[in-house]
Amino acid sequence: MKKEIPTKLRKSEYTFSATWLEGMLQAPSGAPPMKPMYSEITSRDGNKHDVLIRSIKEEEIDPMLNFLKLTLDAEYDYYDIVGARVYAELLAIKRKRMKDEYFFLGLENGHLVGIANGRLMNEDVNISLHTMAFERKVGAGGILFYSKAWYAFEVCNQQEFWATFESYNGWVLAGLRMALPSYPWPDNQHELGGAKIFYLTKKLWEEEIKDNYLGQIAHGSFKEASKELIEKNKKLILSEKLEI
Ligand SMILES: CC(C)(COP(=O)(O)OP(=O)(O)OC[C@H]1O[C@@H](n2cnc3c(N)ncnc32)[C@H](O)[C@@H]1OP(=O)(O)O)[C@@H](O)C(=O)NCCC(=O)NCCS
Repeated sequence: MKKEIPTKLRKSEYTFSATWLEGMLQAPSGAPPMKPMYSEITSRDGNKHDVLIRSIKEEEIDPMLNFLKLTLDAEYDYYDIVGARVYAELLAIKRKRMKDEYFFLGLENGHLVGIANGRLMNEDVNISLHTMAFERKVGAGGILFYSKAWYAFEVCNQQEFWATFESYNGWVLAGLRMALPSYPWPDNQHELGGAKIFYLTKKLWEEEIKDNYLGQIAHGSFKEASKELIEKNKKLILSEKLEI
């Protein structure tokens, strides 16, 4: 918008580097680091899976973006919409366009079993963005969702964790099984599509979810990963096809 200048000027043209603009527009990325965690999941067929949950590394972003493109054509169980959103959120880390995002990978011997991501809205509230399972019927979704709540309360020391659900499997996995209450809608809307906010408070986490969810529902352990497990999952292995 151009307006008439209400004074005389010594200088009437300004030029500056785009780095100044970047300083204005870039979102801060200061989410606290997460320790790599180990989970032994017992899948529905009774098999044990040693899963490492760790943050994505910078060099893994491009291959992951490539892999996520495959989800765009998966027109079932809401994989396409969730995949499209996760793609944009991962790209936002690379382009520095989302505030304090975290992005975890679930890995078994380097193979991707799933992902979980979210962001810190402020000091008190952690926003759960998405959970995706790429190995199905393993039960990886439960422990990946749990890892985000654990991160919010145990690492970031926040007060609330806000989720919403695009799919029935997502809602069953966490909304139903964690018995998450919701805030009145439409007065309160989650940033994903303006849907309901299902929330978990620190009190509910400590008193009811933290220990029970793992044993009763997530069918897994959750503890700090050993050096050997981290080493085993150092290299991310992505399939060329989506088999979900
Ligand atoms: C939501 C999600 C993370 C849950 O992962 P999960 O807990 O590991 O569970 P799965 O997806 O493997 O399975 C969910 C259910 O579908 C069933 N299922 C999975 N694949 C199946 C198949 N090929 N045929 C029949 N049933 C199948 C599972 O047995 C399970 O049912 P159960 O609990 O009664 O056994 C995963 O379904 C997913 O990534 N969905 C797409 C993205 C999404 O919706 N994310 C959540 C956004 S809110």
